[in-house]
Amino acid sequence: MSSTSALFRPIKLGAKQLKHRIVMAPMTRLRADKNHVPTDLIREHYEQRATDGGLLITEGTLISPYAGGMANAPGLWTEEQVNGWKLVVDAVHKKNGIIYNQLWHLGRASSSFLMPDNVKPVSASAIAIQGKNMAGQDYEVPRALELDEIPQLIQDYANAAKNAIKAGFDGVELHGATGYIIDQFVNSNSNVRTDKYGGSIENRARFPLELIDAVAEAIGSEKTAIRFSPLNHFQDMNDETPYETWGYILDQLKSKHPNLAYVHFVEPRVGLMNEDNALDSALDTKESLDPFRAKWDGVFISGGGYTYSPELAAKVSDSTGNLISFGRTFTSNPDLVERLRNGHPLAKYDRPTLYGGDRKGYNDFPNYSA
Ligand SMILES: Cc1cc2nc3c(=O)[nH]c(=O)nc-3n(C[C@H](O)[C@H](O)[C@H](O)COP(=O)(O)O)c2cc1C
Repeated sequence: MSSTSALFRPIKLGAKQLKHRIVMAPMTRLRADKNHVPTDLIREHYEQRATDGGLLITEGTLISPYAGGMANAPGLWTEEQVNGWKLVVDAVHKKNGIIYNQLWHLGRASSSFLMPDNVKPVSASAIAIQGKNMAGQDYEVPRALELDEIPQLIQDYANAAKNAIKAGFDGVELHGATGYIIDQFVNSNSNVRTDKYGGSIENRARFPLELIDAVAEAIGSEKTAIRFSPLNHFQDMNDETPYETWGYILDQLKSKHPNLAYVHFVEPRVGLMNEDNALDSALDTKESLDPFRAKWDGVFISGGGYTYSPELAAKVSDSTGNLISFGRTFTSNPDLVERLRNGHPLAKYDRPTLYGGDRKGYNDFPNYSA
């Protein structure tokens, strides 16, 4: 890759000036404590990856005690959690990095054994994911949210967003991708509601659009962002008309919140991201994010499957101006930005230590040395 690639051109994101377009993708690593408080290990991890004028997006962060309860995932509803994140954010800011928090609610992808009082997970509709959960059991049928519960859920996001700002984050990214609750509302196969949140595209889009309204009102639209994966099928997601559905959402955002910090789309080829070698074979998908790119005038981040294709990342950035988010390769290359700038080889990520554990596979990858 040439250091003259668009990847190394500055761009304004919200109120901040980025100095390059290489973004660390959100990655759940399950190293918070039992109260969902970020630990010093987490501080060290983001600090290692911070660069002058570079954007890091945190792992999915639970917005409330009922957001899914994933053990050792961080949260943002208690003062202790805010204070834990503050240490992370301060360390990143000290290196002139920019950091957004990803707000997460799992919906039906949670399980009652993870939830407070073992209550059932909730979703748009009472439709289970086919397959096994992390405990090897069948996913439960979730409880469909009552119409009058939805305002509280939206309020929970706004509260967590305010807490993110209290912790010093530069903004928040709503996790609207890969089969979690926002995605469950939008996709036609997981939302069969008959009220104003289900049925037509306009109705299925209502939840994310109201969420953006509430979070933008709480912290400002230039600090608000959202991630989508319209062409992915992870956790049973399927929409009959993805280009129309997310196209409508983008049209609405464009007219109501043209100065959102950014939109972040997952490339279609990462549909099989859990399979080690599946990415390469999926690279020749005919589906493309281009129709979404064409609709959005603001900052557009494209992510997924660039991990071992820096040339592809440069090509996409050069031709579209997009920022490119890197996931797995950032886990094993804390100095990824410098490696890409200098054409240094990339270290392979370590699958067994991705989720949970200690420093090993998390903070012990060295910077490049010749
Ligand atoms: C360990 C791991 C955890 C992840 N956790 C999240 C997450 O919390 N939120 C999210 O939006 N995506 C998550 N992802 C998806 C990544 O952000 C990214 O889209 C994916 O890894 C594909 O990009 P890559 O090919 O560069 O790795 C995760 C991926 C991995 C490997």
